Amino acid sequence: MDGNGRWARARGVPVAHGHREGGEAVQRCVRAAMEHGVPYLTLYAFSSENWRRSGEEISELKGLMRFYLRHRFRELDEQGVQLRIIGDPQRFGGNFYQELRRAEEKTRHNTRLTLSLALSYGSRAEIAGAARHLAEQVRAGTLDPGAIDETLFAGALQTYDVPDPDLVMRTSGESRLSNFLLWQSAYAELLFLDVLWPDFGEKDFAEAMKRYMRRQRRFGGRPE
Ligand code: IPE
Ligand code: MG
Repeated sequence: MDGNGRWARARGVPVAHGHREGGEAVQRCVRAAMEHGVPYLTLYAFSSENWRRSGEEISELKGLMRFYLRHRFRELDEQGVQLRIIGDPQRFGGNFYQELRRAEEKTRHNTRLTLSLALSYGSRAEIAGAARHLAEQVRAGTLDPGAIDETLFAGALQTYDVPDPDLVMRTSGESRLSNFLLWQSAYAELLFLDVLWPDFGEKDFAEAMKRYMRRQRRFGGRPE
């Protein structure tokens, strides 16, 4: 989700306003995912690099996430959304962290859409964490290094129970992954959209689905 700042700048309004509109776009996107029968959606809400932003902008973003958690959560729960957090959400502080964990726990049995929120997430940190976790098991004598293969490694990532993404899209015209699901996206189709995130809507989602369906996925094999 990229382009909140540019959206605000183009209108001469504070960045906070762009983030608020971005929140509306999140709701449209989640709704569209459910309407299209998408079972897994991961939103990159805050990267481990976003801590470089001003304290003011960070607390605006945190406040916004808290608002949605408090006022829109029930609706999501009722619609069958399971909330999952990946990243390092503890960095946002104990209270917010506890709220997030409670929301995860409460929606654990929902099955319509698994909505993963990447918060203070960085893919390299996640991969390093998985390596550390496996190394500790080796040191404890409970894991044979020879047993470490792709499947075992993937199981040590925070996304252990979420399938690899089929499609990764980024808004705002930038063509970068910016430390998002690097391991998991090995065979994902990539889609870079020019729309700024606050303008993202149902039509953009439908168009992305159409473009995805036209792609031919070979996973390294030969086309049929
Ligand atoms: C939203 O867009 C992404 C978040 C960190 C919430 P940006 O805030 O990165 O927008 P630009 O890149 O400045 O336009
Ligand atoms: Mg940006």
